[in-house]
Amino acid sequence: MTTHVIGKPVTRVDGRDKVTGRARYAAEFNQPDQAYAVIVNATVGLGRITAIDHAAVAKMPGVVSVLSHLNAPKLAYRPHKGSIDPKSGERLHVLQDDAVRFRGQPVALVVADTLDNAERAAAALRITYEARRPVIDIADPEARAIVPEISSDRSRGDAETAYANAPVKLTAAYDIARENHNPMEPHATVAAWQGDRLTLWSKSQYVVNEQAEIAAIFGIPVENVQVICPFVGGAFGTSLRTWSHVTLAAMAARVTRRPVKLVLTRRQMFFATGHRPRTLQHVSIGATEDGKLTSLIHDGTGETSRYEQFVEALVNSSSYMISCPNVTTRYRLAPLDTGTPVYMRGPGEASGVFALESALDELSYKLDIDPIELRRRNEPEIDEDENRPFSSRSLLKCYDVGAERFGWSQRTPKPRSMRDGRLLIGIGAASATYPAYQAPSSARVRLLADGSAEVEVAASDMGPGTYTSMTQVAAETLGLPLDKVRFSLGRSDFPPAPSHGGSWTMASVGSAIQAACISVLREAEKRPADERPLEATASTQRDAEIAGRFSMHAFGAVFAEVAIDPDVGTIRVRRALGVYGAGRIVNPLLARSQCTGGMIGGIGMALMERTVLDRRDGRPVNAHMADYLMPVNLDIAEIEVRFVDEVDPHVNPLGVKGLGEIALVGMAPAIANAVFHATGKRIRRLPILLEDMLDA
Ligand code: MOS
Repeated sequence: MTTHVIGKPVTRVDGRDKVTGRARYAAEFNQPDQAYAVIVNATVGLGRITAIDHAAVAKMPGVVSVLSHLNAPKLAYRPHKGSIDPKSGERLHVLQDDAVRFRGQPVALVVADTLDNAERAAAALRITYEARRPVIDIADPEARAIVPEISSDRSRGDAETAYANAPVKLTAAYDIARENHNPMEPHATVAAWQGDRLTLWSKSQYVVNEQAEIAAIFGIPVENVQVICPFVGGAFGTSLRTWSHVTLAAMAARVTRRPVKLVLTRRQMFFATGHRPRTLQHVSIGATEDGKLTSLIHDGTGETSRYEQFVEALVNSSSYMISCPNVTTRYRLAPLDTGTPVYMRGPGEASGVFALESALDELSYKLDIDPIELRRRNEPEIDEDENRPFSSRSLLKCYDVGAERFGWSQRTPKPRSMRDGRLLIGIGAASATYPAYQAPSSARVRLLADGSAEVEVAASDMGPGTYTSMTQVAAETLGLPLDKVRFSLGRSDFPPAPSHGGSWTMASVGSAIQAACISVLREAEKRPADERPLEATASTQRDAEIAGRFSMHAFGAVFAEVAIDPDVGTIRVRRALGVYGAGRIVNPLLARSQCTGGMIGGIGMALMERTVLDRRDGRPVNAHMADYLMPVNLDIAEIEVRFVDEVDPHVNPLGVKGLGEIALVGMAPAIANAVFHATGKRIRRLPILLEDMLDA
């Protein structure tokens, strides 16, 4: 395909709005006579509320309303279509009863004329509880793992017997900490009712879902709710769901008959807006002396809440990453007295691939085979789990390009063999993968008399550059220059889009825009130019026949070099390289930026990020940016991103696979493998801490 804008390093079409402050985020919208709501969070980890002293606080300056289960309206709360989990909406039925299910659960809401007055009154609200000891630790003997309602267990061959008979055996356990998304922009909702119609200016990765959920919760027709979200200041999955604060904002606005603004504090973003679940995993590998896998058993357990099952693809990739005749993967959930987790960038795969890729690296040392060579010897011809070909798979090409670029041949294989002065140097590599999804989407395009075009989709742009890449797709298909296309998103009354997640926005929304543009061009051919404006709407989804024939995934190879100070245990990532085969790259500038961000997330996962819970009551003890550590410039040094040429005619008409998630996958094991190479210490628990290195 010859292109004029697709594949070009176009700078962000919304860049000027963002740097001038013209781009408006949820908390920046204001309505006349707006009141301010502040959530009061439970201070016990489990139990029930025995009393709330509304009266004392209701008299405080500026207070408009105090809401709790004692006086909150009963909400309809019915399951409905359109949630990320179609079996449930938000199952935390907020302010509907006296139960405390987890520490930090919203238990009351104070509405006042100013934020200051609302905060003061919320802090003064006295609540008494009957408390019990919560189970908040997945490793607690009282945390019992269950099979999820929708089981994803897979098996081929006889992995147990093959393991028992394997000439070389390796078995290891992995523990990855709970993480919180911590985007720059806080969750925020401004709610305003006009009669029985509700408008929400709200941070969301999925405006049509927020519309549907809130309509269901308040028992009003879906079309009576309008959700507006033109910009998202980072989200990484935390805004995929419609959490309780949205319900509370709408409830407060209804009760007070005033528009209400509700913005979560940084601390509150650790309570009830999801998190990457802590996971415990176990991998057993059987192999021959020459490094051919004969058995792979991958077990994983993730946290969920007591009131809802959150599942992610923790162990799934082990069934297709590597050639092996006998594979068993099992996934379990441990219900805890905690809020429900949610997808966080690279959900499932980021954690699962850490276990598999750490184990493979460990096996390579055991067999004295180069770690990349070991993967080469076990590269599958087809997806052996689904027994069908990959639509495309460039894993080895990624390793080739990466090894060359990173100077892998200069690496001396023996652990502790590389030094820079006092520093121990290690170089590690790991594979990355993520499914190439495409979800049903629609789009509308209008050709105007002045020769420009308008395109509308109820999509989101949390930062990857969706505004820009979709403008490119439309301009390309219509044969227009970029500045003749105006692309709008973030309104629930636009043609519906899937959630802005799962790395499927480019494939899903892009395909719909392409189809709508083709359709409007056909119309234009039939009609004289002066009859403009012309409009076309298209809905697209993945071709089921093609989807049944191919296994569709993106692949990548990630490299890291660490320098470890053996005296103080500091680990510094000096260089990192990610090489990806992800189909067509619509915009190499944005793609590189997105992958850099994902890789930094992976550095955070490997070395810094963990939400620490107080074991007595489940309180997140580091619920602020000072103690929840994330990589800053000094932590990330030199990051390079490369894309291999990959033409995949099967995934979708655009040939794109998505990049958001895979960019985080693989970084953590590459670093852990580099740490082993530097020190000879295999760390199977993330994040890797200074303490882990002290006797290195
Ligand atoms: Mo991504 S975790 O699907 O927002």
